[in-house]
Amino acid sequence: MLKRPFHLRSLQLPSNIFCAPLAGCSDVPFRRMTVKYRPGLVYCEMVKMEPLVRNDPNTYRLLDYDRSMHPIGGQICGSKPELAGCCAKIIEDLGFDVVDLNCGCPVDKVTKDGSGSGMLKNLDIIGEVLANMVAAVKIPVTIKIRAGWDSSQIVAPQIVRIAEEAGAAAICIHGRTRAQGYKGPANWDFIRDCKMAATTIPVIGNGDVFDAESAQKLFEYTNCDAILLARGTMGKPWLIEDIYRHLSGDAPLPRTGLEYRDIFLEHVDHILSYKNEKGALLDLRRVGCWFLRGAQNMRHLREALNRSKCLIEIREMICNYPWHEADFSQEQKPEEEACESTC
Ligand SMILES: Cc1cc2nc3c(=O)[nH]c(=O)nc-3n(C[C@H](O)[C@H](O)[C@H](O)COP(=O)(O)O)c2cc1C
Repeated sequence: MLKRPFHLRSLQLPSNIFCAPLAGCSDVPFRRMTVKYRPGLVYCEMVKMEPLVRNDPNTYRLLDYDRSMHPIGGQICGSKPELAGCCAKIIEDLGFDVVDLNCGCPVDKVTKDGSGSGMLKNLDIIGEVLANMVAAVKIPVTIKIRAGWDSSQIVAPQIVRIAEEAGAAAICIHGRTRAQGYKGPANWDFIRDCKMAATTIPVIGNGDVFDAESAQKLFEYTNCDAILLARGTMGKPWLIEDIYRHLSGDAPLPRTGLEYRDIFLEHVDHILSYKNEKGALLDLRRVGCWFLRGAQNMRHLREALNRSKCLIEIREMICNYPWHEADFSQEQKPEEEACESTC
């Protein structure tokens, strides 16, 4: 069985299919949608170490969650070993089940001080930061990396050993280098090599799982212990359920236009109940792009969503659109350029 319960040390997770940290996306409304489909673990978007120790309210807001979201992980991003333990403890004290270290964020403003994927150029710091996190908390510590800074510096298998020595409970490998950003396909060989390098630590594979078939292939190709879904869940939170069914040999559930509408509206309502008016308007447009991505016959709704400034009107437009006429058979993957400026 590819799908199975998963252990992070003594913490038992219901499955080995996880939902990724997604800066600017995996907020409370987004996570309310994904946890409906019962992933093994869901991560909050990353928070930076410095504002976390400064008690910055905006940073704490990113860590909002409600009880339905357990098991839940918080992710910290930073390269200062002296802050790492304190930050991990803050995440633990906030009630998180897992704390993760971000060694993958490629954006310049994060890497310029050596954080995120900047850590891939300084492996000693990774070991030190991780060890301080592990020493500070009782909850499991995980680490999420890219394969290396660029194709001439593939360091992922080395980091697997560093993570084992530092006492991390699992390591997640995104099969791209920092230089790649989100361009081109993820290279699952990097994940397979890490699995081969691992002696004790479970390996979580990540990259380009957009449907149930690719989830199965990632497991089979790399022999990884768990998988992490990221862009594939944007506007498609039921991907988790699709994968469970596929891996259990159950027939896929048909996803009709009306179902897209209902799930989209549910996400909209979570946004309306969580965000202020300005934030909600921006979010509705962004989330609308995901749900309408690649759908045929939906151009008018897409344009109307981008034009309207009234939340009630937007909700009505979504309700009243002839969704039964929509064709989602040519659905596209999330666009690379939409992710260029993010982690
Ligand atoms: C919009 C966006 C935000 C992201 N934010 C984070 C983040 O906060 N922390 C992190 O470790 N990775 C982040 N990532 C990377 C994803 O977690 C994941 O590793 C990457 O998208 C590859 O998986 P995919 O091909 O299935 O999307 C982000 C990716 C995107 C597209």
